[in-house]
Amino acid sequence: MNDPNRLIQWNGTYHLFNQHNPNGPYHGTIHWGHAVSADLLHWDHLPIALAPTPDLPDAARCYSGCAVDHGEPPYRETQCVATSSDELRTWQRSAHNAVIVNPPAGMELLGFRDPSVWGEVGAWWRVLGSGVEGSGGMVALYTSPDLVHWEYEGPLVARPSGMSDPLWTGQIWECPQFSPLGDRHVLIVSIWDAGLSQHTVYLIGRYADQAFTPHTVHKFDLGGDYYAPATLLDDQGRRLVWGWSWEARRAAAQQAAGWAGVMALPRVLTLRSDDSLAVAPAAEVEQLRGAHTRRDATILTPTSSEVLPDVAGDCLEISVEFDCASPDPREFGLLVRCALGHEEYARIGYDRSAGQLFVDRERASLDHECRRAGHGDRCPMEAGNSIRLRVFLDRSIVEVYGNNRVALTERICPSRPDSIGLDLFAHGGSVMVIAVDVWTLDPKQYGRLRESRTEVK
Ligand code: FRU
Repeated sequence: MNDPNRLIQWNGTYHLFNQHNPNGPYHGTIHWGHAVSADLLHWDHLPIALAPTPDLPDAARCYSGCAVDHGEPPYRETQCVATSSDELRTWQRSAHNAVIVNPPAGMELLGFRDPSVWGEVGAWWRVLGSGVEGSGGMVALYTSPDLVHWEYEGPLVARPSGMSDPLWTGQIWECPQFSPLGDRHVLIVSIWDAGLSQHTVYLIGRYADQAFTPHTVHKFDLGGDYYAPATLLDDQGRRLVWGWSWEARRAAAQQAAGWAGVMALPRVLTLRSDDSLAVAPAAEVEQLRGAHTRRDATILTPTSSEVLPDVAGDCLEISVEFDCASPDPREFGLLVRCALGHEEYARIGYDRSAGQLFVDRERASLDHECRRAGHGDRCPMEAGNSIRLRVFLDRSIVEVYGNNRVALTERICPSRPDSIGLDLFAHGGSVMVIAVDVWTLDPKQYGRLRESRTEVK
């Protein structure tokens, strides 16, 4: 090493940059080394800070210099475009980037990101997720003739974070998805608020004159592990949606596994007459069905257990219908990923007195570092004559569809290899199970399907 290149104290730590040759203990090919210390005595080496770079003015060497604190770089969110001309295989950034450099003038915005673009009446339209300082979530609307030049049209819709009736929609709206559905428009947003829970909501209303007037606001996924959904209108006219489900297991387990986060199943959205959504899994997922077991007309009592002794697995589709004319049980539902002796299980149920659907994962793992608290609220769901729960269990993810209307996603991390049992329960009274169907989710079915599709081609 040679020259120190000025000490700088940054966030309470001393940084020493210095002249340094990584190629050997002699003067030549000079880089900038970097070491840090909290006490001026003990120093840790950090990776090289600057290296000579071909074709740049410092191609040969990086000689002495200094470092100054010029304040926090401003956190800027800009909008860029990329295009593809080879079946979406490779992408080229536009020479016009960034196509929107700054947020609209004169607005104190907390975010300016996650564009969603569509073409309509001879123009391109773009919504951006945002939040107004001191106010609440906001979606910004832009238009463009060519995807490059964008004009701000104004806020599409905003909602104060102080409003909590019927639900709270936070400070910043991420990942807005705006589209027509039936004779209404639907906006799905992901609620981000520092330090508070993140969840998804949708608003249904009318869109006219570049403004969206919502009539209703509801949670989109009733669970705690579903975020940033994105939608697509497919060639069958279906509005499909995919969401990201984050992990419940601890960080070290994610590191060891080498992956984190999954996409939930594709869901189809349809509009109901009360300005709410019906959310159901796309029909295609039924093609994964493997071995099938069915049990008809079973009475469950509070002492019933091991009702389905011959069914087990950690990749299952379960469809179960409970008769709501039965004399008054307080709660009923199913247990998935049950260990022998019920040392672990996740409870999926319906609380009839409160009219709420829930996934209770308090006992879902003996691993205390796995998130187990029921962070998804208990969620209102009307019973009707019966409650039909369709549950997709794929190892660590549980997706529950209630009466083909509402969806609830939770992650679990059972620790025992024998946590593969399935059971039904009733508390506070008996309930009639009209039918329960269980299929293994069978990846082999998927292989078979792909083959048959190839043959058709
Ligand atoms: C949503 C989000 C987006 C952002 C991206 C960053 O989860 O926070 O707002 O663009 O993820 O990874």
